[in-house]
Amino acid sequence: MFDLKGKKALVTGGNSGIGFGIAKALVQAGVTVVIVGKDNKKNKNAISELKKINGTCNAVQFDLQNCRKIPAFFKSLLVKSGTFDILINCAGITVRKRADLLSIDEWEKVIAVNLTSCFVLTTQWAKSLIKKNQSGSCVIVLSLMSEVARPTTSAYGASKAALKQLVRSFAVDWGRFNIRVNGISPGYIKTELTEPLYTDSEFSAWVMKRTPLGRWGTPEDIGPLAVFLCSDAASFITGHTVFVDGGFLASL
Ligand SMILES: NC(=O)c1ccc[n+]([C@@H]2O[C@H](COP(=O)([O-])OP(=O)(O)OC[C@H]3O[C@@H](n4cnc5c(N)ncnc54)[C@H](OP(=O)(O)O)[C@@H]3O)[C@@H](O)[C@H]2O)c1
Repeated sequence: MFDLKGKKALVTGGNSGIGFGIAKALVQAGVTVVIVGKDNKKNKNAISELKKINGTCNAVQFDLQNCRKIPAFFKSLLVKSGTFDILINCAGITVRKRADLLSIDEWEKVIAVNLTSCFVLTTQWAKSLIKKNQSGSCVIVLSLMSEVARPTTSAYGASKAALKQLVRSFAVDWGRFNIRVNGISPGYIKTELTEPLYTDSEFSAWVMKRTPLGRWGTPEDIGPLAVFLCSDAASFITGHTVFVDGGFLASL
């Protein structure tokens, strides 16, 4: 039931951090993965690692901030690779500023990369499956900030909270086509995105004290859940978000 051999997946943000962790876990489960990233050097490094496990994996360079170009971009991917059984939306950014100091441009950039690109790409992906009467599974990577806030996270948190509702809306719209959509909400995970946080010894100590399991998470903590959610073992699970946070949200 956990077997994903022969499946194809598209993974945004697959060239680093959590997205790479998910891509690697999928490849280890037998999936052929295409990663989408903006930075070509990072794409090449990531894909050379994945190719060691499955030689047919590939990377494509695209800036997801260009939301209106996503339909044409996805169409070109379909021509090259055919339909994708699995879609992982993991690309994400933040601008850490107090809300009153955040410009409209900064707000719009975070919303475009984290939220609008996910809406456009996922609807294009679903259309391609519905047209072929094919089932599929999508995972959207959210955050603790869809539930709680901390200073300097207004745009990021708003995008993640909206994504959480999008998980439900997509699941409800596409259940009849056997297209499942679920969210993964990571706690504090050591990646490029959180480097300014885990290198701050005071903040890092707070995270470890606040997390019942007493440590930062790693991208390897997230991948196995994505494999489960995309497999037949999760065939009756849709519209839900699972937290992988070492117990963070459970503790006060
Ligand atoms: N780390 C955590 O503690 C944590 C916690 C909760 C949720 N998350 C979420 O997990 C996801 C991955 O973050 P991460 O921590 O793994 O950070 P990361 O290592 O910085 O990864 C971010 C990924 O997003 C891609 N990306 C960013 N802007 C893009 C754009 N305009 N076009 C295409 N790709 C773009 C990056 O690729 P390029 O560098 O090529 O642009 C990179 O692959 C994000 O959605 C983040 O919100 C992280």
